Amino acid sequence: MNIRKAVIPVAGWGTRSLPATKNIPKEMLPIYNKPVVQYIVEEALSSGIEDIVFISNRDKKVVEDHFDYNSQLEAVLERAGKEDMLKCVRDVAEMVNIISVRQKRALGLGHAVLCAKDVVRYDDAFAVMLGDDLMFGMNPGLNQLMEIAKSERKSVVGVVEVPQEEVKNYGIVTGTEQAPGVFKVKTLVEKPDINKAPSRLAIIGRYILTPNIFDCLAKLSPGSGGEIQLTDALQVLAEQSGLLAVKLNGKRFDAGNWAEYLTANIYFGMQDPALRDELIQRLKPLLNVSK
Ligand code: UTP
Repeated sequence: MNIRKAVIPVAGWGTRSLPATKNIPKEMLPIYNKPVVQYIVEEALSSGIEDIVFISNRDKKVVEDHFDYNSQLEAVLERAGKEDMLKCVRDVAEMVNIISVRQKRALGLGHAVLCAKDVVRYDDAFAVMLGDDLMFGMNPGLNQLMEIAKSERKSVVGVVEVPQEEVKNYGIVTGTEQAPGVFKVKTLVEKPDINKAPSRLAIIGRYILTPNIFDCLAKLSPGSGGEIQLTDALQVLAEQSGLLAVKLNGKRFDAGNWAEYLTANIYFGMQDPALRDELIQRLKPLLNVSK
């Protein structure tokens, strides 16, 4: 099974992150010194992906531009002799091949994935990565899914176990564990009530899908929240050709949630030796607050 393309939908409204996202896509909010989406593209590349397919819209051009040359800026940096920064901005432009597809109306994540049909339908399988879910670990999150998808030749979704009170924010799966951390999916339900959730296995923003997902998506009517839900199409796929859920190892941050977003900023700042000590010194008095 050859998996060369990753679809990254970035055409949502980002309402949870307002007012910051009134004019800046949520995927472009910085985590330390890089926009969220760059971390996701880097994870894709380190998992062996060659092409990125952005599902975009009229207000998200800046996401594509981030991975392109900026000759004016480069000229300024060159004249100023800022070689390090020049390399830094050029490296991002040369990082990966970008394909952009328009989602003309934000009709939901399922609809966004359907927009990629013409670009990926002849591939064995393709990845979907959500533009606001950050994963870090020794083995990149997407790569963990690719390994299972290739060995089992099936569509795969990434899951993590979440606390009971958080199930209402996720698509939740049930299934039988066929190997440690690998489940044959039986049911999927989008954002269930806390008391009705059939499990605590929550789908996070990493998927490997075979092109038969498009038939499932095309037949759907709007589901939870009036949107075309990817989770509903995955239920059909699970029944028709089987679907696996793989528990992902590593650190994860949902950049659409302010507490996690801010924690991610501190986490990445702490990884930079040039910043670490000063950051700790500045945080200490702030953290020493009595509630
Ligand atoms: P979310 O539901 O997290 O994003 O979708 P949202 O709708 O932008 O955010 P909130 O809930 O209003 O804050 C996950 C990903 O799918 C994209 C979003 O841009 C996000 O990266 N998406 C969502 C689309 O591309 N199109 C859509 O119609 C919906």
